[in-house]
Amino acid sequence: MASTLEYDEVASDIRRPGAEQAPGSLDARELVRLATLAASSHNTQPWKFRIEQDRIVILPEFSRRCPVVDPDDGHLFKSLGCAAENLVHAAAAQGFSADVRFDAGEDRVIVDLHPDDTARATDLYRAIPERQCVKAVYDGTPVDAAEIEALVEAGSGSSVRTLVLTSSAQKDAVIDYVNRGNTAQLTDRAFRDELVSWIRFNPAQALRTGDGLAGRTSGQPSLPGWVAKAIVGLVITPKAQAKTDAAGIAGAAGVAVFVSSRDDKAAWIDVGRAYERFALQATALGIRTAFINQPIEVRALRPELGSWLGLEGEHALLMVRFGHGPTAPFSLRRPLDDVIVECTDEKPARA
Ligand SMILES: Cc1cc2nc3c(=O)[nH]c(=O)nc-3n(C[C@H](O)[C@H](O)[C@H](O)COP(=O)(O)O)c2cc1C
Repeated sequence: MASTLEYDEVASDIRRPGAEQAPGSLDARELVRLATLAASSHNTQPWKFRIEQDRIVILPEFSRRCPVVDPDDGHLFKSLGCAAENLVHAAAAQGFSADVRFDAGEDRVIVDLHPDDTARATDLYRAIPERQCVKAVYDGTPVDAAEIEALVEAGSGSSVRTLVLTSSAQKDAVIDYVNRGNTAQLTDRAFRDELVSWIRFNPAQALRTGDGLAGRTSGQPSLPGWVAKAIVGLVITPKAQAKTDAAGIAGAAGVAVFVSSRDDKAAWIDVGRAYERFALQATALGIRTAFINQPIEVRALRPELGSWLGLEGEHALLMVRFGHGPTAPFSLRRPLDDVIVECTDEKPARA
């Protein structure tokens, strides 16, 4: 059986820094590799990439959807937005500017690349391989006002703005919403079955699939599959999750809520992009982040959450806690050849 050492070696190769590139010469496979290091719901990596002349098209992979937690595919499209954002920063490092647009007719994200003498590798680009969701409890220290300002700026986009909540009273209220979400989700058999189907209980299982929620990333012991199946029902309970999330939110410097004036596929792409920028900026500053989306995933909680946040005509679409803490073992990705689809375009690909 594969060891944690093998897991960490593979993860570290997947997360290697971006290859050095002569400015203006495009390495499209490298752009796609960096795009796949983005966050995705349950690490489903619900994407395919088609490399065309001066363009990369990101296509949804609906066979990887999670119909219970994400019935309208909102998280799936947000994940595509995360990947698109990484592409933008990776393209800049290769001397290209990138225009991202959502093609609603075909349900795809089009990233057009243009040579640009002013495009450069930035701190956000260098943070791509290091960005991760850190599920540990943070150390409770505050984040500087100037750093919060940089995070809020990074987390704002065309239809998206980021709200930051840092007071104890606000964090207590968030704990309450998250735990009501936990209770609704973890008492639902279909939700639990779907979640468990994406958990990788040992390094061998994680390495076999290259996707899913590896126990290693959240400090869980490696378990043989049959043992994990036997005890998972006893371990993942609303009460245990409530305790974990309460400690996680209490130890955070704050909570960021990504809100949009719309709630449609184009907005989901924008909000995914905004989260990814926020997380890259956080990574560049040595600040950790982890999602706490339960009150957004449980539809019944959304109106109450929205009015508590004072939203009028806006929608809370993603939520993270952030703060100072250690890094964690990295999550895996599928091989690049599994996510790059043949270019059917007449023109030759530049890859
Ligand atoms: C749209 C979206 C929703 C997510 N929701 C949650 C969540 O509710 N809880 C959680 O712990 N992680 C959530 N994640 C984080 C993923 O589990 C994580 O990105 C994935 O496992 C890959 O790990 P990495 O981000 O460390 O590379 C979400 C990610 C995305 C993009």
